[in-house]
Formats: sequence, C-alpha cells, structure tokens
Amino acid sequence: MRMVDLIEKKRDGLVLTDEEIQFIIDGYIKDEIPDYQMSAWMMAVFFKGMTADETAALTMAMAQSGDQVDLSNIKGIKVDKHSTGGVGDTTTLILAPLVAAAGVPVAKMSGRGLGHTGGTIDKLEAVPGFHTEWPQQEFIEMVNKNKVAVVGQSGNFAPADKKMYGLRDVTATVNSIPLIASSIMSKKIAAGADAIVLDVKVGSGAFMKDINSARELAGAMVEIGEKVGRKTAAVISDMSQPLGYAVGNALEVKEAIDTLKGKGPADLHELCLVLGCKMVMLAGKAESEQEARTLLEEAITSGKALEVFKVFLSAQGGDASVVDYPEKLPDAEFKINVCSPADGFVEKIAADQIGMAAMLLGAGRATKDAVIDLGVGLVLHKKIGAKVKKGEVIATIHSQTDHIGLSEQKILQAYQFSSTKPNIIPLIKE
Ligand code: URA
Ligand code: CA
Repeated sequence: MRMVDLIEKKRDGLVLTDEEIQFIIDGYIKDEIPDYQMSAWMMAVFFKGMTADETAALTMAMAQSGDQVDLSNIKGIKVDKHSTGGVGDTTTLILAPLVAAAGVPVAKMSGRGLGHTGGTIDKLEAVPGFHTEWPQQEFIEMVNKNKVAVVGQSGNFAPADKKMYGLRDVTATVNSIPLIASSIMSKKIAAGADAIVLDVKVGSGAFMKDINSARELAGAMVEIGEKVGRKTAAVISDMSQPLGYAVGNALEVKEAIDTLKGKGPADLHELCLVLGCKMVMLAGKAESEQEARTLLEEAITSGKALEVFKVFLSAQGGDASVVDYPEKLPDAEFKINVCSPADGFVEKIAADQIGMAAMLLGAGRATKDAVIDLGVGLVLHKKIGAKVKKGEVIATIHSQTDHIGLSEQKILQAYQFSSTKPNIIPLIKE
C-alpha cells in the first residue's frame, strides 16, 4: 500500500477499507507517513467525508494506537459520559456520585486540559487533600468498593488522535464531523467504557454553533458506538448561556454540592437528570426514562447521592466536610459586583465571553503548563429572561486582585438586554 494512492482515493470520494485506514494510522504513528501526506489526507476527508464504516474503523485504529484501559475487573456495565465542552459545566462532579448512588459504577478518567476553567480533575483538587493520581489497581478497588472514583489520566490514550489533532489545528481540518467524532470516541473507547453518554452542546459557548451540525456530530458518534459494540446515547443541550450560575473551579464544586443537595440551579439540575437517566438506562439499572428519573430524584431527596459524594471524596483523601462547610474551599480575596447598564430583560449571555472573563481572572489555562487559581471565577445572578433594573447586580467577580477591568468588560459585553421578555431557549434540544 502507498499513502499517495489512499490520498487520491479519498480525494476522489471513494470509500477506504478497514485495512487501508489501519495502514494510515499505523504508518502515521510510526512516523512512516509524514505530516504533509497526513494533512493532505485529512483535507480530503474534510471535503469528501467518510462513511459510518470508515469512521468506525478510524476510531478503532486510533483507540488501539496507545494504551487501552481494562475495566473488566469492575462489576457491572461501566458508563462514561462526555461533554463536547461548554462554560461553567459542572455536570461530571454531580453525575458521578448521582448515578453511582443509583448503582451504576463510575470509573472515570478525566483530563485537565485548556479552557475557561480547569477540567474535572482541577475542580476536584479544590477539595483540600483530594488526590487524583492513583495506580490502576487502587482505582479499580475504589470503584468496586464505593461505586465511584475519578482520577487523572495517566496512560497514553489514543496517541494517534493527539498527533492528528495537532496537525488538524494548523491545517484547517478541525471542523470535520468524522474527524471530530472519531477523535472523541477513540479516547472514550481507550478509557475502557462499555457504554457512553454524550452531551453535545450547541450555542455561543460551544464547539457546534448550530443545531444541524450538533445533530450531525451526535449522530456520527452514536453510529460509531453502535458499530464498535459500545452502547451510546446522545443529548443535544443548549450552551447559548453558561450552565448554572458559577464559572470557576471551587465555585463550581460548591454549585455541584448545592445541586446534590437538591438546591442547585434549575438548568444544571435538569441537565444532570437527563444525562443521568441515559447513564442509568445504558447500565441496565432502569427500564424506562421515568423509572430512571425517579431513581435519581430519590437519590437526591434522600441524601444518598450526597452521602456517596462524601465517601468518594474521603476515599481519595479529600476533606468531605467541605460538603457541610463549603467555606473550607479555596476562596478569592475580592468579591466585586458587576451592575446592569440598562433596564429591561436579559436577552443573551454570550457564554464564550463569560468563559473568557473567568479565564482572565486565572480560573483556566491558556497554555498547557499555566497554573490556575482554584478560588477565582464569577457568579452570574441574572440569566436569560430575568428582569433587571439599571444598576442592579448581574454578576459577582471573585478575584485575587481588584484590577478586574478586562473581566468586567467581557461580562458587560456578554450581556445583551431587551425591553421585552425574550423567548426562553429550551435547555434540552433533542
Ligand atoms: N474535541 C476532541 O476531542 N476532538 C476534536 O476533534 C474536537 C473536539
Ligand atoms: Ca456552572
């Protein structure tokens, strides 16, 4: 086989065989296929697309290009959840103990990553003493004992994806549905999930800006899952404003605790229930959506989910008393209010601008090695549809300095007001 022939084949819109796709990934990871040929091939994929079979073959070739976690020593169906990114998304912190309380084993490996705030692992490190690095064996034991453990990624998962993503980033080939779908699914499969629930975000703060592309991406990922024997379900949810009120690391931990207590923001609570239902059903712990919802609602009202959260924090060395005394979480020195410049209703809150404001305060990493401040961030007080008066507080900045000019500016840019009450965008789109 020669790479040039496979580039030509894809360029002409023909379908590659599994062996041909395997050849490309193997060759690329071994440096036998140079970046320029890989770029040309990915550009051909960008224009000509891939069939569902080709996308599944690409996913498996990438998943098998590095370490693959074996979770077979954990009893039950392991369901993983993936969100395609958003602002202020704390769902994993809530879902992990919530579905564990319903009997679903959660063996989660999370990343730190770049973004507006840290990843799940960073957020958990806001809990004093919490450890995220565990040997594989202890990780598995914790899940068997407590039904839940969340650890940092230690393995070399899907290195082919990493190498390809680096190239896509500089060759204008990121935005291709088969390339995105296989990239996301390869990492979930390498991490050992039996079943996968996807939260595909759509809106200003999301990767997918419109419903059609979100639907296409969700469909492509579900199809991959089906073809490779991993039960997969997807939800398309709105990210045209941040999720919940808090954006920041410790601030989101507190918001997660509130939600586990049944006192969280309505949108965050609802999204967790919807995603949680899918997880419970894929794990075979409920027959219907209604039964799953009842299980999860009971786990919250009975306090069981909160109890599982405490046990999980303690098991990983964390101080579980933060659940009752959230003031023990990292804090920021200054709390500075941002006030509405107008009378009216909140019409829009550009989630990406809010994310940028949090990042400027130090809540997220702009580069891989940047140090983040777990105590800073911002809390919104008014979301879309809220009535506001000029001068009323719309958000509070939590900062370590009182020089917050740029963040304040971003927040004010993010908010748009109207004189009439706007239509409320449904949180769960499909
Ligand atoms: N996230 C990923 O993991 N991969 C992509 O290609 C895009 C977003
Ligand atoms: Ca939030």
